[in-house]
Amino acid sequence: MQDFTDKVAVITGGASGVGRSLAFALGRRGAKIVVGDVDRNALTTVAADLAAEGITAIAEFCDVTSVDSLNAVADKAIAEFGGMHLVFANAGIGAGESGNMWDYSDKDWQWTLNVNLWGVINSIKVFMPRLIEQGVESHFAITGSGNGALIVLPDCPVYTATKAAVQSITENLHFQVAAQQLPVKISALFPGPYVVDTGLFNSGRVRPEELQKDFQGDGNETGINSVDDMKKMAAEYGIEMNVTHPDEVAEMAVAGIEQDQFWLLKTTPETDAKIQARTDMILNRTTPVPPALG
Ligand SMILES: NC(=O)c1ccc[n+]([C@@H]2O[C@H](COP(=O)([O-])OP(=O)(O)OC[C@H]3O[C@@H](n4cnc5c(N)ncnc54)[C@H](O)[C@@H]3O)[C@@H](O)[C@H]2O)c1
Repeated sequence: MQDFTDKVAVITGGASGVGRSLAFALGRRGAKIVVGDVDRNALTTVAADLAAEGITAIAEFCDVTSVDSLNAVADKAIAEFGGMHLVFANAGIGAGESGNMWDYSDKDWQWTLNVNLWGVINSIKVFMPRLIEQGVESHFAITGSGNGALIVLPDCPVYTATKAAVQSITENLHFQVAAQQLPVKISALFPGPYVVDTGLFNSGRVRPEELQKDFQGDGNETGINSVDDMKKMAAEYGIEMNVTHPDEVAEMAVAGIEQDQFWLLKTTPETDAKIQARTDMILNRTTPVPPALG
């Protein structure tokens, strides 16, 4: 897809971070934007900010854990803008894991699987039939994470598990669409190459009441609520942490979609070395060692 003028882009989790940057990157290229998010305050802000730039957009409440909620957003996009050409299944959370896995609250597992995994499954169910039915070129991009899809960082097994599953789903979706020569292109979006400065580390702001942590032990709190907190912690270990701005991720994603790329992925020599080390470990049957953070 080379020309985004008057194309319609639906972005879940579009009120913050990577999704918000995608809304602006595509809107500035002439696309009409539908942002879906659970954060009502952030929805109001993003709607005002997009309007201030003259971008045609609607910002709707949308909970990706609910098929009904996603259906409502899809119907709204069709009613307002006549269809959709780009869908980003992007909403995701981190539950703030730390300590031993066997001490985790079940609520951490439930919330993370609900949003990161069921959110993607629900989005496929809701958007794919509509995209196929339109019969015109369209793109369906799923936001995964190198952590889980490509390597396994230590101490976040819940998040990692969801993103490993999401990668498997995304590749399978591509296989099915390609085998049937459908006009929908599937892409796997990996925010990075460094940790992206977004609200992900403060996801608790949109955590549902019924899924609040029920484990009261002190081993389940990281004390990290932002990328700045991570930077400070890294600095205590003498590590200078690199950070990526979400606008860079959005530009990388748009450039990849222009080229019909499956992998919307930017790496560094260091991240390539980690992927290579994991592959070598599997092929050589060596015991896993955790990759370095950063
Ligand atoms: N930040 C990073 O370094 C990084 C790295 C790899 C992957 N990711 C992935 O990028 C995606 C976007 O996250 P981000 O980093 O921009 O974080 P973010 O918190 O800034 O944005 C995520 C958005 O999703 C929304 N959301 C949460 N639960 C939702 C639900 N049930 N339904 C609808 N919307 C919901 C939030 O309100 C928020 O606006 C996520 O899938 C995340 O896992 C981020």
